Amino acid sequence: MATEDVILRPLRSFFRGRTLLVTGASSGIGYDIALVLGGLGAKAALLARRQPLLDNLASAIRDEGGSALVLAADITEREAVLDAVKRALSDFGHIDILVNSAGIVRPGAVETMDPQEARRMFEVNVLGTLHAIQAVLPSMRQAGSGNIVNIGSLAGRRGVPALGGYSGSKFALVGLTEALRVELFGSRIHVALVMPGVVDTPMLRSDGRPEHHRLFSDMIPAMPVRWVTWAVIAALTLGLTEVDVPPGAAVLEKLAAFFPGLSDAALAMGNRLWEWAAGRRRHV
Ligand SMILES: NC(=O)c1ccc[n+]([C@@H]2O[C@H](COP(=O)([O-])OP(=O)(O)OC[C@H]3O[C@@H](n4cnc5c(N)ncnc54)[C@H](OP(=O)(O)O)[C@@H]3O)[C@@H](O)[C@H]2O)c1
Repeated sequence: MATEDVILRPLRSFFRGRTLLVTGASSGIGYDIALVLGGLGAKAALLARRQPLLDNLASAIRDEGGSALVLAADITEREAVLDAVKRALSDFGHIDILVNSAGIVRPGAVETMDPQEARRMFEVNVLGTLHAIQAVLPSMRQAGSGNIVNIGSLAGRRGVPALGGYSGSKFALVGLTEALRVELFGSRIHVALVMPGVVDTPMLRSDGRPEHHRLFSDMIPAMPVRWVTWAVIAALTLGLTEVDVPPGAAVLEKLAAFFPGLSDAALAMGNRLWEWAAGRRRHV
């Protein structure tokens, strides 16, 4: 029996029969979370725009003996999200767990970034997440319990070059999540942040990305997506409010905040190194 099976087995009793809504379920982190939790017996509602990918995931979950509901919707369209959640509620009766993973990245220097791209990141990463939270919360309030996990980013604790707009959107998401956690204090609705570093998903691999971003993902070793799924499982089962992936990474970010000049200098040097390497690549 695989080691992972030995660890996952006791979790089945925790997740069996629980209802789950995952945004961004068609790809990467959201896909893996839905697949694993669906396989552990949760009833999974899958939200994203690309229906064929959601259909494939739903089949994979059903093959594992789980049940899945496909909700094709654009997270930035509030009415579509409200309708999707209504469907999930009418099929499942209630939603125990909301995992917000839908997100996009549009790399670019702050000095030259296209404001429309920055706007789009805020629409998906912040307002889209807000739509899902507001759609689900009334039923969680009524039930008197629930779990919301937002997938943030280490770039939401420290601004990094070439990801300024993305960092801004993830800082906003962190602020929104922390405020919600306080608003819901004592309500038995638990809110958690999962903060990954660089993760090996299609977000990093897409050929359509500008060269700087591809280089970024080439030079920093990307973590397997399953590490993030484990972090979500830890947040849900242990009631953790914030989980960094890898563990402790945000502590370094927080320490770096005591020495902003020093951490700026280190990041600036790293950025120049990337630009230098990008220049060399262009000439080979
Ligand atoms: N990969 C990393 O290194 C990394 C690191 C830290 C944090 N994160 C965060 O982790 C989350 C998942 O990222 P990922 O790496 O798994 O990326 P991914 O593989 O590109 O998946 C992104 C997901 O978001 C969905 N999405 C995007 N725009 C949407 C919209 N308008 N409406 C509904 N769904 C939408 C996509 O589905 P459709 O295109 O089908 O709509 C897809 O399912 C994001 O919030 C990202 O910021 C990623």
